[in-house]
Amino acid sequence: MWCSGYSNAPMRIYLSGPMGAGKSTVGQALAEKTGRPFVDLDACIEARAGQSVRELFRERGESFFRRLERQEARRVVDEGASDAVVALGGGTVTSEETRRLLLGDGVLVTLTSAVETLSARVAEDEGRPLLAGGDAQEVLAALLRGRGVAYAECHGAVATDAGDVDSVVERVLAIVAAAPIPVPLGQRTYRVEVGAGVRRGLGECAVSAARGRILLVTDEAVMDPWGTEARRSLEATGRAVTSVVLSPGEAFKNLQAVEQIWDAALGAGLDRDSLVVAVGGGVVGDLAGFAAATLMRGVAFGQVPTTLLSMVDASVGGKTGFDRPEGKNLVGAFHQPSFVLCDVETLSTLPAADRIAGLAEVAKSAWIAGEGEVAALEADAAALVAGDPEATERAIRMAVTLKASVVAQDEREGGARRLLNLGHTVGHAFETAAGYGAMRHGDAVARGMIAAFRVARALGVGSEADEARGSALLTALGLPTDVAGRGTDEVQKLLFADKKRIGDVVRFVAPGAPGEVEVVPAPITRIMGIVASF
Ligand SMILES: NC(=O)c1ccc[n+]([C@@H]2O[C@H](COP(=O)([O-])OP(=O)(O)OC[C@H]3O[C@@H](n4cnc5c(N)ncnc54)[C@H](O)[C@@H]3O)[C@@H](O)[C@H]2O)c1
Repeated sequence: MWCSGYSNAPMRIYLSGPMGAGKSTVGQALAEKTGRPFVDLDACIEARAGQSVRELFRERGESFFRRLERQEARRVVDEGASDAVVALGGGTVTSEETRRLLLGDGVLVTLTSAVETLSARVAEDEGRPLLAGGDAQEVLAALLRGRGVAYAECHGAVATDAGDVDSVVERVLAIVAAAPIPVPLGQRTYRVEVGAGVRRGLGECAVSAARGRILLVTDEAVMDPWGTEARRSLEATGRAVTSVVLSPGEAFKNLQAVEQIWDAALGAGLDRDSLVVAVGGGVVGDLAGFAAATLMRGVAFGQVPTTLLSMVDASVGGKTGFDRPEGKNLVGAFHQPSFVLCDVETLSTLPAADRIAGLAEVAKSAWIAGEGEVAALEADAAALVAGDPEATERAIRMAVTLKASVVAQDEREGGARRLLNLGHTVGHAFETAAGYGAMRHGDAVARGMIAAFRVARALGVGSEADEARGSALLTALGLPTDVAGRGTDEVQKLLFADKKRIGDVVRFVAPGAPGEVEVVPAPITRIMGIVASF
């Protein structure tokens, strides 16, 4: 899992980037300023191998060096000081395995500079094996192109061209303090910021996401104060801003709402350089995301989720779409946002019952993530029900961290992402059977999780004790767990109609103990029979 900062322990800081970007200089200054130990990965490799990097390249070749580098990075993670500042080699993060390891272990910051700056800095340095015999600018330009993905997957990037070392150190420390959660998807990598007041960074995020006009999409219930405030921050960037205010709620998650957004965008002259910003719950996010995916075949998109459900689930992962009379979310597209700002302060206007319903997705995420996450949630349950902002921030970070790691492995739900459906197969059937608006989605997911524990046991996964613990957690979070009598004929029919069914088989997400959640293929008729017995 990616580093999330939901524990308070100091995290390692990794500095990546091309040669000449200033990793060692900035790293040493950062270590000195913060009293942390400094580690230079190349120096560690040289000490262990008894040869310089240049000699290793010349005598053993680059792939041998890269192997040593992977081993040394692993050693830092396993045995290094937990608060170290680590200057990586320029190519360390080209290994996907190492990159993901470091992203999960600490805060990974990429230092960048223009090719001209880099080549001027390394011109006199003879210890750079990759520059041997070549034109420095050409070699560096090719390196930057080849390593684009590796350098993009990070917690934040800082340009070192102009700023003095102290100001670069300050910017790295700001990234460490914010501890954003990266969703590492190569060049489409984005970061989820979580905390009180992070919405105030909206203007800055918008400016770095796109160069052109901005379309703000919100709904009537969110407009004041959050939509109005967002509009002010966006206008302060000097960009042209147009707003669309939708009717609130699932009943309006339809094609007409999408058309409203399309029309406003086209009327305002949005072009391919434009940005769509969603400020609202999951409905606004899904609609605005779909409009952004389709306008000019795809424009940039940013999310400021304002419900707990949209913070912990809907705003991250790139699923967008709208409902049809035949069912929910039947038309949609994958379109990843460029940024997500989860500001816990926006939850202050959300009715408590809606906030608490969002905790069902948090419980689901913790159960998928593992024992540590479930134990932390058990300890925080009362504070979460009361709406404590710090506990809420920890819960959001945990859930987003889990989702980011699952989406990074499986962006389009071909495998690991299916785990996130825990509690949803039967939960959706309960929700639909109850009739529109009669059962909150979160309440349905909570009951669906209890159903999942029972179905899992019948399929040979988990124990009664697992269900008892899951049930106690959901109850402590203020969520319903009663499923008796709910396996009606209608619920069974709805299960049969599940759009995720392939032939006669569903891939049922079966929970055991925390962290032991499996996808078990099972005949739908079997699941229907088990649910009928509730
Ligand atoms: N894309 C995904 O991966 C994904 C994942 C889960 C859910 N979803 C979708 O999310 C939707 C549900 O999201 P939701 O629960 O956020 O519902 P929602 O967007 O309908 O918001 C619920 C209600 O709260 C209001 N509201 C929102 N923020 C508020 C605030 N801060 N203060 C006061 N009122 C506020 C809204 O106007 C709305 O009336 C569903 O359509 C679901 O399909 C999408």
